[in-house]
Amino acid sequence: MPDITDMRGYIETLEAMGELRRLEGVDLNLEVGALTERAAEQEGPALLFSNFKNYPAGFRVISNVFRTCKRTGPAMGIPSELNGIDYLYAWRKKLAAYKPVPVEQVEGGPVFENQMAENEVDLYKFPTPSWHDLDGGPYIGTGCGVITKDPESGKINIGTYRVMVQDKNKVSVKMNMGKHGRLAFERARDAGTPLPVAITLGQGPAVFLAAQMPLPPDVNEYEFAGYLQGAPVPVVRGAVTGLPIPANAEIAEFGVRSCNTILLKNLHSKNWGKIFRSQKLCNARSELG
Ligand SMILES: Cc1cc2nc3c(=O)[nH]c(=O)nc-3n(C[C@H](O)[C@H](O)[C@H](O)COP(=O)(O)O)c2cc1C
Repeated sequence: MPDITDMRGYIETLEAMGELRRLEGVDLNLEVGALTERAAEQEGPALLFSNFKNYPAGFRVISNVFRTCKRTGPAMGIPSELNGIDYLYAWRKKLAAYKPVPVEQVEGGPVFENQMAENEVDLYKFPTPSWHDLDGGPYIGTGCGVITKDPESGKINIGTYRVMVQDKNKVSVKMNMGKHGRLAFERARDAGTPLPVAITLGQGPAVFLAAQMPLPPDVNEYEFAGYLQGAPVPVVRGAVTGLPIPANAEIAEFGVRSCNTILLKNLHSKNWGKIFRSQKLCNARSELG
């Protein structure tokens, strides 16, 4: 049985279910985005792209991971044969029985296998799609986890917010008003301090789901993800920021946010040559602050 708490295991699971299509040599400029859009519209399979022009073999991008109940079921601990109203009832029942599952604190982990120090960080090494023709640039984070700590309450939050590459060591993050990451940023800004931020790509599917759900501020996304997947999320302290990150994520970027941009101080990866992300919903421009 593949490990569904890890994105690689989830890919194996989807493939065994006949819910994954592999595509090679697709153009990062709009073609990956267009195929993803078509697959999503048609409730088609998850798409696993590889072999990008001008990049070494081995880099991968996954999209359309959660478009259907069948594919979301294993990550939520809900039988994948349920659909529509039956799925909803099962989900409501599961939510009503919610009990936080504490994280497993670990030392190190696969995400630390490869590291770029501050002066080495180079986001251009990763194939990043430009998803839509009106996007302001390539989004490296669409199905990502943006991890922040509220400077007042000390609460950790993970939200899925789009992350655009602005430079080889600079990204912008589109945290909309009222989102927990945005509130943390505003509090830090008002206190005159920069906000440490960690961004993960290719985190386990339950963590990704928890990050995109509008959970109340007192619910910890890692503990919620642990409940969904029926096992604690292995969490490790990230370099530079000290923020907790999933030890089995594919890629983690660390930096500080002072305006709309985050200056990256460090970057870790499970294996150079692997990058995952999920369905994009974006058609917005990000601007440098
Ligand atoms: C693929 C995807 C991309 C998203 N992009 C953004 C985004 O760019 N900005 C944003 O504020 N919310 C975005 N969202 C919605 C947030 O993830 C969602 O509102 C989540 O609850 C935010 O977490 P928070 O409540 O802890 O702030 C996105 C969701 C998904 C699934």
